[in-house]
Amino acid sequence: MDLASVQSEIERVIVTEEELQNRLKEIARQIEADYKDQDLLLVGVLKGAVMVMADLSRHINRHVEMDWMAVSSYGSGTKSSGVVRILKDLDKDITGRNVLIVEDIVDTGLTLDWLKTNLNSRGAKSVEIMTVLRKPESALVKVDVKYVGFDIPKDFVIGYGLDFNEKYRNLPFIGVLAKHMYE
Ligand code: PRP
Repeated sequence: MDLASVQSEIERVIVTEEELQNRLKEIARQIEADYKDQDLLLVGVLKGAVMVMADLSRHINRHVEMDWMAVSSYGSGTKSSGVVRILKDLDKDITGRNVLIVEDIVDTGLTLDWLKTNLNSRGAKSVEIMTVLRKPESALVKVDVKYVGFDIPKDFVIGYGLDFNEKYRNLPFIGVLAKHMYE
């Protein structure tokens, strides 16, 4: 879906399609170097990571494997409770594997903090994180993120996997949702 289709619903574009793809290519080069001659399993976190997984993996010029998890960050009604539930687990055992979690956004950090600990406890050789976006001002816990696309302010962002009521995921850029859409 293009910008013209949602122009009145978007306050501004903060990361263009070109900026996104250029940054993903840079990160792909870093990943190729960091995991040279080593096994690599990309773990995408549904649903937001679908777009970045599809693009990042195609920028990586080597063999990778992919698996998927779905988690729910909503514990007792609030997203920042830190209670995470596995809705869909990995298909395969990750003992001894180099796991790279692929995410769309690190917000409070609670989901990724939990997920990293969980995957490490399964005996992975390494567990690292790649995220398209990070909101440093929203951090409630410090999570070590190896690859960050862009640090952004606390705005309500949508697009490129990120949704508002399940919509906007199919935008190829990241935008700030206009306030009249949710206030
Ligand atoms: C988003 C994102 C992370 C999590 C980050 O997923 O993909 O998994 O929130 O937030 P945190 O840092 O505050 O824990 P969301 O729950 O919106 O699900 P979705 O990917 O299916 O949209």
